[in-house]
Amino acid sequence: MNTNTNAEVLYDQYVANTYGKAPVTLVKGAGTRVWDDRGNSYLDFVSGIAVNALGHAHPTWVRRISEQAAQIAHCSNLYRNETQGQLAEKLVALAGGRKKLFFCNSGTEANEALIKLARLYGRSRADGVEGKCYKILCAEHAFHGRTFGGMAATPQEKIQGGFRPMLEGFAFARYNDLASFEAMIDDQTCAIFLETVQGEGGVVPATNAFLQGIRALCDKHGLIFMLDEVQCGAGRSGTYFAYQQFDVQPDAVGMAKGIAGGFPMGAIWMNSALADLLKPGSHGSTFGGNALAAAAALATLEVIEQEKLLENVQTLSSEFIPKLNALVQKYPQQLTGIRGMGFMLALCIKSDPVAMTQKLLAKGLLTVRAGTDAVRLLPPLNVKREELDEALQIIEQCLQEAAT
Ligand SMILES: Cc1ncc(COP(=O)(O)O)c(C=O)c1O
Repeated sequence: MNTNTNAEVLYDQYVANTYGKAPVTLVKGAGTRVWDDRGNSYLDFVSGIAVNALGHAHPTWVRRISEQAAQIAHCSNLYRNETQGQLAEKLVALAGGRKKLFFCNSGTEANEALIKLARLYGRSRADGVEGKCYKILCAEHAFHGRTFGGMAATPQEKIQGGFRPMLEGFAFARYNDLASFEAMIDDQTCAIFLETVQGEGGVVPATNAFLQGIRALCDKHGLIFMLDEVQCGAGRSGTYFAYQQFDVQPDAVGMAKGIAGGFPMGAIWMNSALADLLKPGSHGSTFGGNALAAAAALATLEVIEQEKLLENVQTLSSEFIPKLNALVQKYPQQLTGIRGMGFMLALCIKSDPVAMTQKLLAKGLLTVRAGTDAVRLLPPLNVKREELDEALQIIEQCLQEAAT
């Protein structure tokens, strides 16, 4: 007897299998909770992979998108739209002023824009000669996306395999190891590009000393310092940008995922001097920053501010992390530690993390693997204390069952 729902049949028959087999079909969400097409409900600690900053169907977000769609959704970047300028102003203020934004539609596109910016900067450093100063120094275990620029900056066989030759001009050093970065800088290097918290690589935050050392190296060698905050940005770390907890100033930052609360959007901010390197025609995006996406991002920012969600992340994560650590103490046979910042957390386990995510799903908690040893917990920024406690109970039930 075929027990698949119609949605499962259509998805499996007609949608390319790039994410493996989707285990459930989600049809509805409200806050931190989602429902599948069989009526089961789950606590959503994936948040669309760090996207749904406000959880699901936040009324302000829904209303602002609906109002904007009824007004004007898209007009291309041949013309100005009102919400894009308003959003850029707010993001510049959050980043401390004297910056400009470029808008696109995803994380990999944001990184593509950063890579192109680094090339323009390298050309300006080499007195306008192209191809002399173009190398970008990245980190081992990084993940920067799946376009050719993003892949080239992501030194992992599972990402690059099958697509070679890669775009040239990328070199890799060890994350959190300043000496290994210093050793790789040469006359052709124009930029250093890092995630502030490595996400897909296992939720590994940079150290203070490392990021400050990278800043000093960039200053010493005339390189630009670019951060990928696609996953850790937009409030997930407890500050709007994660680097703000490290006492460093990068020159350009890529963001996406959470910035528009579930609407596709990517962006980079760059210092004004770098922004001047971009000229009409040098880069662009048909959809980037359209009125609808920018309205979604404005609504997300408005709710983050009104509902004090950065404070919520700080307060509740500082209660949640010790509780997770208590589980590590209680189940040392299964757990090895906790990594991360704010609500970008990894529960490090000795067994297969994918199997653990499946067990948690069966008990009603959505989580996602990170790296080779971790189950990622990415609740929305407005998650409630009771929901965190419920998630802890589910995690503990799974650990208890595995122990017996
Ligand atoms: C740090 C980082 N950069 C880039 C990307 C790619 O983003 P997207 O899937 O929106 O292209 C991701 C996605 O997981 C990411 O975590």
